[in-house]
Amino acid sequence: MRIFRFKSIDSTSDYLKDKEDIENFDLAIAEIQTKGRGRRGNNWVSSKGMALFSFALKAEKDISIEEYSKLPLVTGISVLRGIKRIEEMDLKFKWTNDIYLDDKKLSGILVEKVNDFFIIGIGINVNNKEMGVAEEIAVSLTSKTKKNYIIEDIIFTVIDEFKKYYRRFCVGEWKYILDEINSRNYLKGKKINIVSTNGTVTGIADEIAQDGRLEVEISGTKKLFDIGEIHISRLKNEIE
Ligand code: BTN
Repeated sequence: MRIFRFKSIDSTSDYLKDKEDIENFDLAIAEIQTKGRGRRGNNWVSSKGMALFSFALKAEKDISIEEYSKLPLVTGISVLRGIKRIEEMDLKFKWTNDIYLDDKKLSGILVEKVNDFFIIGIGINVNNKEMGVAEEIAVSLTSKTKKNYIIEDIIFTVIDEFKKYYRRFCVGEWKYILDEINSRNYLKGKKINIVSTNGTVTGIADEIAQDGRLEVEISGTKKLFDIGEIHISRLKNEIE
């Protein structure tokens, strides 16, 4: 595993995306990002004290692209377990790729495909205290525990967990991984808005299904939703 460390960079994910001699598990770590990116084209405000990192994963030829659509979920449970190994706390997984603590976002994950590689970008609020405009919706480890953490310990622990879960995923243990994800399912039982090109509907989120889609009960009927098609929000406070 090669490690590329930066005091400041535009985005660790963009660094790996542009890298011509990329290798499996190349890892880019930054103290600060000037153009951190989140999902759906959002900015990821990247301040000092956060764990900001991306790593490359070479796509296996015998795993289909449909199977790989579960990769954000496999990454999510790895991030959750990695953080829990450092600090035992009641973390939840918010489908499809956020980690929540006390109803606030602790970590976000961005999975992108470039040629034969997935670039997995992870941001975790660790030692950053001031959440600024995000105070209402984001939380850091230090704001919860008042401790100071060694950021690279967290990064390497998360990657270690990822390697374990990914191996299990590759050998057909998805069902058990999903059970674990569902046991930490933040959205389950919550009233959510599902926003798509066809408009907005309100429903109650349920389990994450075998194929990685979210079950939502709408007017008494269970429907399955794919993250590509929808955007979830709460009725009052947007949560994604
Ligand atoms: C999200 O919640 O929308 C995903 C946020 C992902 C942020 C991380 S920080 C490291 C990596 N580099 C980026 O530009 N984005 C990801």
